[in-house]
Amino acid sequence: MKYTYIENIADFVDKEVEIRGWVYNKRSSGKIQFLMVRDGTGIIQGVATEKDTEPESFSLMDNLDQESSVIVRGRVREDKRAPIGYELSIGSLEVVGESKDYPITPKSHGVDFLLQNRHIWIRSSKQWAILRIRAEVVKAVEDYLWERGFMRFDAPIFTPSACEGTTTLFEVDYFGEPAYLSQSGQLYCEATASAFGRVYCFGPAFRAEKSKTRRHLTEFWQVEPEIAYAHLDDSIELASGMIEYLIERVLINRKRELEVLERNISLLEGIKSPFPRIRYKDAVKKVNELGESMNFGEDFGAPQETVIGKNYDSPVVVTHFPREIKAFYMRKEPGNEELTLSFDILAPEGYGEIVGGGEREFEAEKLKREIKERGLGEDAFKWYIDLRKYGSVPHAGFGLGIERTVAWLCGITHIRQTIPFPRTLGRAYP
Ligand code: 4AD
Repeated sequence: MKYTYIENIADFVDKEVEIRGWVYNKRSSGKIQFLMVRDGTGIIQGVATEKDTEPESFSLMDNLDQESSVIVRGRVREDKRAPIGYELSIGSLEVVGESKDYPITPKSHGVDFLLQNRHIWIRSSKQWAILRIRAEVVKAVEDYLWERGFMRFDAPIFTPSACEGTTTLFEVDYFGEPAYLSQSGQLYCEATASAFGRVYCFGPAFRAEKSKTRRHLTEFWQVEPEIAYAHLDDSIELASGMIEYLIERVLINRKRELEVLERNISLLEGIKSPFPRIRYKDAVKKVNELGESMNFGEDFGAPQETVIGKNYDSPVVVTHFPREIKAFYMRKEPGNEELTLSFDILAPEGYGEIVGGGEREFEAEKLKREIKERGLGEDAFKWYIDLRKYGSVPHAGFGLGIERTVAWLCGITHIRQTIPFPRTLGRAYP
């Protein structure tokens, strides 16, 4: 008898197999009992009858609860009517662990209750599908970059300074000195880009986001590529290609998961880069035309991003944001010190910003001036300014937020379901 995962069940038609999993659901109709078993790779329907199933196992099934862990043995049968096209004719069954009063039942529960039980909620089919898509996105991002000669390195989590503004810093006591949880690995990417050419870091970012929104976590994951000898356009091209590639990979490899989520895939299928581009100043005009108000110099909030994004059926690239609403490291547009060589990519269907990036200031004096004007404290940035003293070159990169990208690809409204254990304002449990 061969132990197998449900995802490989098609290789075992008319053979005896062993499945190790958990009870997803069960129902009985007289002398036949139906047992849905999940093993992390899929769900299969097992059928037990007095004729085919050992009597002891058959009676055990009466007392099985949702999420009891079980080892089931039986013969695989092809059956077009079964949800996955195969069924298991159960010969015997062994209970490994009980599951009395499992709190998440097929009836609907409130979100707070589900988040409080996130450690087991992730077993539910929709959460399973979302997290499988997340895993695909993470792998695809790395494949995309490795195929293009990028080298991964890991940026530190304890950092001496603010990369993305001081309002969202998490401060920690680092042996009596203040240190900050990393908001972004970008500054370190810039150092490694001068050592290795094309690099990326991939890791958690921490931001003390005080607003409760559908798009903000206090701990999220970012992939951040950085390219030496590169400009704004190179960065936009790399990011757009990455998004196109992610869609393709998910549509091919995670079709079943998209079906579980009832995602309308026609909204993803036609998306190809290059994406439409619009300058910030024109985007502001458009926002006002579309009925949301905003002034030049203000940052987009969720409503503004939503109206712009909804105006296109593909992602849209917004470029040249004003200096005062972007981070200190942005290079200015030649001839216009008030605008930056920056870009955001907004996802369609109202999902908002999924990528932020741009060209970096590579001249030491300009960078120092910016750090000073923003009161960021030059000491903590000494090493970063050094990079401009020793063989500085134009360079550019971006950060793609994994959770927002996954939320869009899955078509779900809140990003808290796209990370196994979400951290938000007011929640750091479980
Ligand atoms: O636009 P952001 O702030 O850019 C940076 O951090 C740059 N240092 C990246 C770089 O150029 N290397 O963040 C990048 C992306 C956003 O587009 C968004 O997808 C995600 O990170 N993001 C968040 N995701 C979830 N919760 C939050 N609080 C997020 N803040 C940013």
